[in-house]
Amino acid sequence: MEKEKFYITTPIYYPSDKLHIGHSYCTVAADAMARYKRLRGYDVKFLTGSDEHGQKIERIANAQGVTPKEYVDKIVAGIKDLWAAMDISYDKFIRTTDEEHVEGVKKIFKALYDKGDIYKSEYEGWYCTPCETFYTEHQLVDGKCPDCGRDVEKVKEESYFFKLSKYQDRLIKHIEEHPEFIQPQSRQTEMISNFLKPGLEDLCVSRTSFKWGIPVDFDPGHIVYVWVDALSNYITALGYGTDHDEDYKKYWPADIHLVGKEIVRFHTIIWPAMLMALDLPLPKQVFGHGWLVINGGKMSKSKGNVVDPKVLVDRYGLDAIRYFLLREVAFGQDGNFNNEALIQRINADLANDLGNLVSRTCGMIEKYFGGTLPEEQEGTEFDADLKAMVSATVEKYESLMDKMLFSDALSELWALIRRTNKYIDETQPWVLIKDETKKPVLAGALYNVCEAIRIISILLQPCLTRTPKLIWQQVGIEEGTLTAWDSTKEFGLLPKAVSVKKGTALFPRIDMTKELEDLEAALKAAQEESVANKMKKAQEEAAKAEEGEKWEEITIDDFCKIHLVTGEVIASEKVPKSSKLLKNTVKVGDEVRTILSGIAKHYTPEEMVGKKVVIVENLAPRKMMGEISKGMILCAEDKDGNLSLVTNDKAFGSGCDVM
Ligand code: MSP
Repeated sequence: MEKEKFYITTPIYYPSDKLHIGHSYCTVAADAMARYKRLRGYDVKFLTGSDEHGQKIERIANAQGVTPKEYVDKIVAGIKDLWAAMDISYDKFIRTTDEEHVEGVKKIFKALYDKGDIYKSEYEGWYCTPCETFYTEHQLVDGKCPDCGRDVEKVKEESYFFKLSKYQDRLIKHIEEHPEFIQPQSRQTEMISNFLKPGLEDLCVSRTSFKWGIPVDFDPGHIVYVWVDALSNYITALGYGTDHDEDYKKYWPADIHLVGKEIVRFHTIIWPAMLMALDLPLPKQVFGHGWLVINGGKMSKSKGNVVDPKVLVDRYGLDAIRYFLLREVAFGQDGNFNNEALIQRINADLANDLGNLVSRTCGMIEKYFGGTLPEEQEGTEFDADLKAMVSATVEKYESLMDKMLFSDALSELWALIRRTNKYIDETQPWVLIKDETKKPVLAGALYNVCEAIRIISILLQPCLTRTPKLIWQQVGIEEGTLTAWDSTKEFGLLPKAVSVKKGTALFPRIDMTKELEDLEAALKAAQEESVANKMKKAQEEAAKAEEGEKWEEITIDDFCKIHLVTGEVIASEKVPKSSKLLKNTVKVGDEVRTILSGIAKHYTPEEMVGKKVVIVENLAPRKMMGEISKGMILCAEDKDGNLSLVTNDKAFGSGCDVM
């Protein structure tokens, strides 16, 4: 029988040199879900990736003196390292710089344009570079970005717009008819009342003021603006729009887009509207999880309060961190991260409840039976209750995991772990051992504990990736049919003669008072290390700038290829729809030519008229904003980007050679 498919995605991450524990939270949750579905027999596709275009990346790369691609390559390698350290079992990592994605986005943009859903207009508004988001005047908070509180820039440029408003009614209808589409429920209410009912505005989907993005191939100069580029990843990753789109046909529509609460809006309004425009099916569900916060505030590099997941994994092991992330916060709501809570969970849940259950069981089988249980076993009066709890827990666990309620699922599982510990206390092996005739009862009781541990270890697998195997080694469980998910449905599958091999503690207890200080110091050191690295880089760059840029040496013949000549500006005007360009009419000897210059922010047209300038006379003509520009007016640029025209100080007339 063909397996049922399950397609789950995380957001694609902005390349950052420090993905923090908040980012890991989302990815670990998606990973737990992907693992759970695989264990349940689904054909799973788990997608994650990186969102690599935009002005911010272009600026950082420029500042570091590397190309944007060089910059993102380095950062993406770091992201992949982190996911490897966290056992993220993605099936595909998409980069928005992948050729297939780039080609796919061009096709999607063109298809939307051909359909009449994208049109050209002019954008005027406020732009927050770090958030890569445009805002209208009334959306700003005290003149700053409403999301991150930083300064915004006024922008005005020719842009393409997507007719988002056209889809408003269809979106409302879809959301109302599919209550499972936006989860948790509270986010659905928020989308309808805060965004859809007040009315949607058309969406700016192209930019001209920077270059690091996917070009609009039918209109050079425009690049596809962030959300159309980013959201399309969910289908381009499946080969949509190519001649090998088998994955698209198999896995689309997505079963779950897992996203943080602040981007639910883009996934439940823009993305479905784009899909409607493309006549494609909509994802089945968008699940908006909450944030992991520190003292109630968002983690951010600028606040200096980010927690480096690698520090935690190095100190406590991966499973402790995965457990904490999935258990501590009710999925969907915000949850506070704090070091004390982490250590407490490790000590109470992992070391005491789970670790102790496995180690005391193995210890007793070693001590009382030399490591192997005899086949002759008898039941106890407490067995029925334990078995009933095991089977009820499996059922509850599955139903909660199906709803992505990880914390509740783990809480049920831990109730069973504690119940199994209680069963040991009830059967009192240390009393039974004193009576030789009770040996079969003792063996039967310890067998039941091992069997409960086997079922617990299977249920642990989606969340804890390493501990289950360690448990199997200690409790002598062969990986295979005895560790398959369906084997949780039957109590008693483990062969009676269990052979144990006690190993080291699964989760050593931590001395809270001592550890808190050390942990704080380690987290701080990790932050400072990255700050120190940055400062070092900045110093190197400053030194480089002081040395002056190193230009390639050229010969006099190379230089003679450039014909510089004096000219006089006789007219100048602004180029409509451009904030940068002036259209200058320049007299060069007997010739009058049009030269477009990007100096509108430094000179007014009135100031330009009469200026005696130097131009590159033999530069190949170029079309800009619909005008042909012939030549280039030379300017000097200082380190702050201010421009000053190069003139000739004896005010020679136009047409004189400059050499
Ligand atoms: N690139 C966009 C997503 C495009 S998806 C088509 C983006 N990237 S991001 O790197 O800023 O964020 C990625 C995810 O990490 C988001 O879902 C965001 O909510 C999540 N988190 C970032 N900080 C977080 C916490 N402190 N806590 C929980 N999740 C957090 O947005």
